Amino acid sequence: MNFFKLTKATVAAPADPRDRGGPRQPMLIARNLRKHFPITGGLLGRTVASVRAVDDVSFAVRKGETLGVVGESGCGKSTLAKLLMHLVPPDSGELIFDGLEVGARDGLRLRDLRRNMQMVFQDSASSLNPRMPIEESVAYGPRVHGMGRAQARAHAISLLEQVGLPARLFAGRYPHELSGGQKQRVNIARALALDPRMLILDEAVSALDKSVEAQVLNLLRRLKAEFNLTYLFISHDLHVVQYISDRVMVMYLGEVVEIGPVERIYASATHPYTRALLASQLHADPRARVTEPPITGDPPNPVNPPGGCRFHTRCPFAETICSQTAPALTPLPAASEHVVACHMADPASGHTRAGAQARPGLVPSAFADTPGPDRTSKEGVRA
Ligand SMILES: Nc1ncnc2c1ncn2[C@@H]1O[C@H](COP(=O)(O)OP(=O)(O)O)[C@@H](O)[C@H]1O
Ligand code: SF4
Ligand SMILES: [Mg+2]
Repeated sequence: MNFFKLTKATVAAPADPRDRGGPRQPMLIARNLRKHFPITGGLLGRTVASVRAVDDVSFAVRKGETLGVVGESGCGKSTLAKLLMHLVPPDSGELIFDGLEVGARDGLRLRDLRRNMQMVFQDSASSLNPRMPIEESVAYGPRVHGMGRAQARAHAISLLEQVGLPARLFAGRYPHELSGGQKQRVNIARALALDPRMLILDEAVSALDKSVEAQVLNLLRRLKAEFNLTYLFISHDLHVVQYISDRVMVMYLGEVVEIGPVERIYASATHPYTRALLASQLHADPRARVTEPPITGDPPNPVNPPGGCRFHTRCPFAETICSQTAPALTPLPAASEHVVACHMADPASGHTRAGAQARPGLVPSAFADTPGPDRTSKEGVRA
């Protein structure tokens, strides 16, 4: 499947004079992004192994949408975010922002990428200069980019108001005089100061109390409409991702295992890892609780990930093919927007359940009739 020619614009982005490629051109395309962190050892400090943090990741983000990114801790979400911002240089792969290849001769310069795409991190305190009043913090970026002092100040005051921090009360305050939620609002104002088109939010609400988290999420939704933004929203919290996302991308050990519209992922996720993640989330409504067992065990070491499907060491449906061949991302029949990397989704894979999983919703209790991985046979294949 060509993930980069998204023909159906499910999220209509309002006309924007900065728009180069038109509504059908994705805001961001990542193609085969890879980052392996070397591990050095010995007296000579030679590279002895590498952490495969992000391995051949490809996806597109439409204009005006929120793409949620989920996965267990250590699966490569933050590394992916840094690769998109070029805060960490990729080993290989391409980034295309509104039709322009980042870093290419005729493409988009890094400086312009960072103007168009800003990032908000989890740690609201360390992102702010403790010795700078917040108004100056927000005005700093525009000043560096050549805006006059008075204009940058007026801009900062206006942004502080827009993120819910009235300037007459907050402009002169220092970070230590603010709560966690207020600091994160300042970080959002700073991220907006250069008039970006896209925000990457990496666990941006994860450190906040639940009530504050809800307020900041609602603020993000409002700002998205007011500033005509596109979001990549990273979180380990599935409830939060469901609330804010239009589509969801699931990562496991540096790879993408499933992408789909939020309603499909939450109602009929197909990849066993996604299903296990969903089974592990708590529901206030007993009717919404899943009876499938949640995922067990820790993810394998990304220094030496399992061959074939990386999830096969924890998957209740693993068969010989799973440890031998890596499944490709495959669109589900009649749902080309929903892609999954699992041999069960490919009728020609040779997996004994191939075809059943390819019809989402038909196997709602696939885990329920499954006792769990049977590791007694030679290849670790279920009987
Ligand atoms: N600078 C680095 N050097 C070496 N390993 C790293 C570095 N940054 C991240 N990693 C490793 O890469 C993997 C992915 O990390 P990360 O992207 O932070 O995951 P997540 O955000 O999903 O928790 C982890 O195993 C982590 O230890
Ligand atoms: S490819 Fe095999 S091991 Fe991987 S998720 Fe699918 S069934 Fe499980
Ligand atoms: Mg992270």
